[in-house]
Amino acid sequence: MDELSIEKSLRPQYLNQYIGQAKLKLELGIYIEAAKSREEALDHVLLYGPPGLGKTTMAMVIANEMAVNIRTTSGPAIEKAGDLVALLNELEAGDVLFIDEIHRMPRMVEEMLYSAMEDYFVDIIVGQGPTAHPVHFPLPPFTLIGATTRAGMLSAPLRDRFGIVSHMEYYTIEDLSDIVIRSADIFQTEIHDSGALEIAKRSRGTPRVANRLLKRVRDYAQVQSDGIVNQKVADAALSMLRVDQKGLDYVDQKMVRTMIEVYGGGPVGLSTIAANIGEEMETIEDMVEPYLLQMGFIQRTPRGRIVTQLGFDHLGYPINN
Ligand SMILES: Nc1ncnc2c1ncn2[C@@H]1O[C@H](COP(=O)(O)OP(=O)(O)OP(=O)(O)O)[C@@H](O)[C@H]1O
Ligand SMILES: [Mg+2]
Repeated sequence: MDELSIEKSLRPQYLNQYIGQAKLKLELGIYIEAAKSREEALDHVLLYGPPGLGKTTMAMVIANEMAVNIRTTSGPAIEKAGDLVALLNELEAGDVLFIDEIHRMPRMVEEMLYSAMEDYFVDIIVGQGPTAHPVHFPLPPFTLIGATTRAGMLSAPLRDRFGIVSHMEYYTIEDLSDIVIRSADIFQTEIHDSGALEIAKRSRGTPRVANRLLKRVRDYAQVQSDGIVNQKVADAALSMLRVDQKGLDYVDQKMVRTMIEVYGGGPVGLSTIAANIGEEMETIEDMVEPYLLQMGFIQRTPRGRIVTQLGFDHLGYPINN
């Protein structure tokens, strides 16, 4: 198998193959079954949560479960109203339109989506100047699935038009371990439970990270050992990658260290942290900080971010009161 088809096969196709997110799966399973038995389109779904937790995968699973087509695009790719009309025009009854990074759509496009979502039509202006006139454009019933890393970035009118709003949670170590074992099976890599567990513990609660680390550990096992992924090999490979015992990668560690060494543990503002470690503020907010918050290593206060006692301890600094 080439890389692309491996990537594809790593994605679960149906709800019963999708590991973790039990609450979300239970709810969606009910809504999907109800919509199917009424022969209706599923209500619009908003999936939000940190990157790599399986939002795109879930959108595809929903389309498979509904046995409909899925069209995929992203907020920034829909530049003007005409782009949206072109996408909507291709939909058949019941189809899924998946818009990734939905918080990054231009305002005009977003406003056009309101009537499309609520009443399945769009009004477009045809022609220019004095001959310009509105055309009423009916649409088939469809399901919009939006994905975003931050629901707070969505305007209220848009958010309110989603009937199903679901937060994706970080995965438990047990679930990640199952994901690693499933992926190793697809890679045809022999893995011990202890090896899967070690990778799971260090995957930042994120399936994408788990799959990436598994690939690197597999390489290491193949070259430095007998190809079998056990705890020892996983630990050695991940230490080489500078992924620590709690899954903090180089950037995570750098952020907390900088907060401690330069700012005595804070409070320190996001923009100051960003400038200090050479990352974009958005990257920190979307990708770095959520896991550090979840682990209790940092906290947000009205005056800025602070490193907690746990954070000091984990990075091996004495706490300074
Ligand atoms: N529940 C799961 N079980 C097994 N594998 C999963 C699961 N969720 C995600 N994955 C795997 O993790 C990877 C990332 O998933 P996906 O691309 O769906 O994440 P995402 O939330 O859309 O990320 P982003 O926000 O960056 O777009 C995929 O390769 C997918 O195969
Ligand atoms: Mg995605």
